[in-house]
Amino acid sequence: MNAAVDIPYAPHPALEAGLASVHERCLPDTSGEVATYIPELANVEPDAFGIALATIDGRLCARGDAERAFTIQSVSKAFSYCLALELLGRDEVFRHVGVEPSGDAFNAIVFDPRTGRPFNPMVNAGAITVCGLIRSVHGDGALDFVMERFSGAAGRPLSISEDVYRSEALTGHRNRAIGHLLLTVGAASEPIEPTLDLYFKLCSILVTATDLARMGATLANIGVNPFTGESVFDVAAVRDTLSVMFTCGMYDYSGNWALDVGVPAKSGVGGGIVGVINRQLGIGTYSPRLDRKGNSVRGLAAFRILADEFGLHAFECTNYGSELVRGVG
Ligand code: DON
Repeated sequence: MNAAVDIPYAPHPALEAGLASVHERCLPDTSGEVATYIPELANVEPDAFGIALATIDGRLCARGDAERAFTIQSVSKAFSYCLALELLGRDEVFRHVGVEPSGDAFNAIVFDPRTGRPFNPMVNAGAITVCGLIRSVHGDGALDFVMERFSGAAGRPLSISEDVYRSEALTGHRNRAIGHLLLTVGAASEPIEPTLDLYFKLCSILVTATDLARMGATLANIGVNPFTGESVFDVAAVRDTLSVMFTCGMYDYSGNWALDVGVPAKSGVGGGIVGVINRQLGIGTYSPRLDRKGNSVRGLAAFRILADEFGLHAFECTNYGSELVRGVG
C-alpha cells in the first residue's frame, strides 16, 4: 500500500531516501541468471544493480550502479516504435504490426492468426518489422536517425557495443528466421538483411539506468527531454507507444505487470527496464539477473515497491497525479 515510505512535500531528500530504501531492500536478492544465449551478454557483472528516477521538471536521483553501461536490448523496441509511428503515421504502422499482447515469449515465431501480422512491436517479430519501416523512410541513414533521437532522449550521445552487436549478428539465427517469415506475410520487404542488421544494432546500444530514466522522462514529458528542452518524439506517437508498453512491454508477464505495477514499461534481456509515469517521471533500473521470462529480477522487485509505496500504479486510487512528483514540484 502507500504507507511504508513516507514522501513528504519536500523534494529531493524524500526522493533520495525513498530510492535508497528501495535499492537497499532489493539488493540482497541474487536470484535469476544473466542471459547467455547471445554469448557476449554473459560478460557482465551479474550482481550490478542501479536505479534512477528522472522527473519531468528535470531532477534526477540515482542509486547504486546507475552509471554502469549495459546494452539496451529490447528496451529499444519501445523507442523505435515511437519513431516509426511518427515517420509513417499510425495507420500505416498498424497495417504492418498489431497492438495485441501475444502471450508468447519475445522470440516466438508466431503471427496474429487474424491478421497474419506480428502481434505487437514489443516482441522480436514486431520490432524487426518496425526496423523495416524506419528503413523504408531513411534507408541506410536509418541507424543515424535512430541514434540521434535516442541520444536526444537520453540527453547525451549514445554509442553501440560493437562486441555485443557482432555477437548478436553471428548468433541471431532465430531473428533471421523471423525476418524471412515477415517477408512471406508482407510485414517486411526485401532486402531483409539490412533490416535485421538495424535490429541487431539497436539492441546493442549502450545505456545506463540514468539514461533509461531520462529517456522515460522524455516520454513522460510528452516527447520533450526535460533536461535539455529538446523536442525528441512526436506527441501523438508517444501516446500510442505508452499504450502498447502498458499492455505488451514485459514479455509474457505483461498482464501480471499491468496488475501489480501498472506502469507503461519495457524490459530487455541486458537487464534494463524503463518505466514511464505519464506527465511525472521516468524510471530506469539495471540488474542483469533475469527470471525465466527474461525480466530483471531486481528490476521487477524495485518497480513493484516503487509503484506500491510511491503510489505510481496508473489505477492506484491515490494516484490523482503522483504524490511523489506533486511533492517535488
Ligand atoms: O532479439 C534478441 O534476441 C535480443 N537482441 C533482444 C532481446 C530482448 O531484450 C528481448 N526482447 N523482447
